[in-house]
Amino acid sequence: MTQSIAIVTGASSGIGSVYADRLAARGYDLIMVARDFERLRTAANRLTEKYAIATTPLPLDLSKRSDLDLLLARIRDDENIGLLVNSAGVGPSGNVLDSSEESLASMVHLNVDVLHALTVAAAKTFAAKGAGAIINIASVVALMPERFNGSYSAGKAFVLSLTQALDVELRPKGVQIQAVLPGFTRTEIFERAGVDSSVIPAGMMMDAGQMVDAALAGFDAGELVTIPSLGNQGLWKALDDARHELGPHLSLDRPAARYLGSVTH
Ligand SMILES: NC(=O)c1ccc[n+]([C@@H]2O[C@H](COP(=O)([O-])OP(=O)(O)OC[C@H]3O[C@@H](n4cnc5c(N)ncnc54)[C@H](OP(=O)(O)O)[C@@H]3O)[C@@H](O)[C@H]2O)c1
Repeated sequence: MTQSIAIVTGASSGIGSVYADRLAARGYDLIMVARDFERLRTAANRLTEKYAIATTPLPLDLSKRSDLDLLLARIRDDENIGLLVNSAGVGPSGNVLDSSEESLASMVHLNVDVLHALTVAAAKTFAAKGAGAIINIASVVALMPERFNGSYSAGKAFVLSLTQALDVELRPKGVQIQAVLPGFTRTEIFERAGVDSSVIPAGMMMDAGQMVDAALAGFDAGELVTIPSLGNQGLWKALDDARHELGPHLSLDRPAARYLGSVTH
């Protein structure tokens, strides 16, 4: 059964390449985006052969405005596109203080600005036709920024926040959006960043196939936020409920009593 077309960014490697495989198995035709054309073409040919679906390897450097514009135009113009998976991303090589401003800026640009542009384009296009879905790969460090590179963690918090906010607009229009928060996942991301992944305890590192299968189970269940490792779903609910409980207290016409001593008028 042929579904609509899914765009997968970062489809040449790691999490994105597993999404491409699993979506092909579900009958989606694929537009596979990354920079490495040879890897894309090899993977695309394999998926076409294995699942009898149509694949388009689209070699783009999404950090370049002209390449990003091509993909944005494709999202807006191709009415058969029904799913966007934002998995293209890079990781940090160390702490913020040990990183060059340039490397942090290019990481934030790809992980945040590019994902934002693609998500908004898909959101508008899908909302206009009343169908479609967006999967954004964030990270658990969105929830614990103290434990990782701050620029990377803040970028992932942006992805989580954007997804939660857009859900309010998209759900009534029949469009699904999901943020996936993986923990450490066995991919090339560490090697590419020059990080020795052997120092990460094996018990904290998930296989990319299992991570994506769990995330897709969450997607099928209609979850807005999926944390593949999290056994006790009540912990996430408690955090989210506490956040919502803050709501009525966050914007009032006067400061809290404990600050009144320093208010002059
Ligand atoms: N692995 C983890 O532990 C982990 C945990 C939480 C979240 N994540 C997130 O998961 C996502 C996927 O990462 P991964 O672990 O699968 O890493 P990966 O194996 O290194 O894959 C990254 C993908 O992004 C593509 N990419 C990088 N720069 C690009 C650019 N400028 N334009 C287009 N494509 C580009 C790469 O392909 P080319 O090199 O061919 O362009 C590759 O396909 C990222 O957003 C990452 O932050 C990963």
